[in-house]
Amino acid sequence: MSARFDPSGPLRGRLRVPADKSVSHRAAIVGAMASEPVRVRNYLEAADTRSTLGAIRELGAIVERRDHELVIRGCGLRHARAPAERIDVGNAGTLMRLLPGWLAFQEGSSFELDGDASIRRRPVDRIAEPLRLMGAQIDAREGRFPPFTVHGAALSPIEYELPVASAQVKSCLLLAGLATGETTVIEPIPTRDHTERMLLRAGATVERAQDRTGAWRSTVGNADELELDDVEIPGDLSSAAFLIAAGVLVKGSSLVLEGVGVNWTRTGFLRILERMGATVLTDAEPVGSFEAEEPVAELDVRHGPLEATTVGAGEVPLAIDELPLVALLGCFAEGDSAVTGASELRVKESDRIATVVDGLRGLGADIEATEDGFVVRGAGGLRGGVLNAHGDHRLALLGAVAGLASSEGVEVEGIEAAAVSYPGFADDLAALAS
Ligand code: S3P
Repeated sequence: MSARFDPSGPLRGRLRVPADKSVSHRAAIVGAMASEPVRVRNYLEAADTRSTLGAIRELGAIVERRDHELVIRGCGLRHARAPAERIDVGNAGTLMRLLPGWLAFQEGSSFELDGDASIRRRPVDRIAEPLRLMGAQIDAREGRFPPFTVHGAALSPIEYELPVASAQVKSCLLLAGLATGETTVIEPIPTRDHTERMLLRAGATVERAQDRTGAWRSTVGNADELELDDVEIPGDLSSAAFLIAAGVLVKGSSLVLEGVGVNWTRTGFLRILERMGATVLTDAEPVGSFEAEEPVAELDVRHGPLEATTVGAGEVPLAIDELPLVALLGCFAEGDSAVTGASELRVKESDRIATVVDGLRGLGADIEATEDGFVVRGAGGLRGGVLNAHGDHRLALLGAVAGLASSEGVEVEGIEAAAVSYPGFADDLAALAS
């Protein structure tokens, strides 16, 4: 299915963006591990997070919808039920990489996980290797791809330094660590800490701090059971980022985005934008904070001129899903912008270095791929044309925003992919444009 996004007049108004995908996945998974029912308000209604509810139901959790909330009756920490069928994770990489952390200590049970064509090309050795070090047995296709099977076992604690900066890998090991005594994950570059915050709220012993070398250490202690108070999911900064980019790029725009999660481990994109000359954050969580609550703020977005910037490896994990937007903004900025140290983009829902560079070049951008990022020459804007989403939700959303800011409009092929994280995106844009 394709959709056209024509050059837009000013975007104006107030909007509440969809719920955070990362936090929704974690609320559902930790809710399934809990011993008491958990009420989750503002759970994300999108394809990825529906996959998570499907998966936890397969494992024995009961999920009820009541008005605007979900009630999850979990299985308890050590009582996930082995389903007869494969667990289908759909397109959800976070589900695929977090769930095995829990399943790995369901002693005597085996669980097979599989997903769509995009999931089948995303590596799972990054979780399988450390889980094996903890004592789990995991069989994967070609040793590293889905479908794969997790055989539950008695686990031992580890101290593990992440070879790639990945919140999904860290989260998987922290969930497994609940059954081991003290398990520590060391991150030379910090990644989002939603799992640590959710586990802290669920009564687990969690410590997170920077050590003398500057690395971040997250440690979980052994838990007998988890109990989660009501959870309210904040708005998703990664979804808001597309509206922010639209507001910054489309002349005359002025938007207010309400209830956006501003956990500092997610707001790297706002800091990059600030460097480019666009300040949007009104009430930031200070960099380096760690507390159980997920902070929320209102964001003010205005159109304005942009300067080029360079994003280095240290900033990449805290803006990982927004880097395609840095490429788009770079097309409109004064000077050459670059992203480096971002080879992880190659193993996202698509190879996001290739799909972003090819996609934007097709719209008239002067952009080149590098091994671990891209370089884009600001040319005062974009012509427009056709962009293929390659089944990747963030590419579909990128194409739509590019269309509004372009001179001739953009036809997005495969726009339906947007439903993975932001099903109502086109309607929200239309509301802001009217
Ligand atoms: C996520 C972590 C990131 C991010 C993904 C969601 C999470 O992936 O790209 O969209 O919820 O933990 P990596 O952990 O692979 O960097």
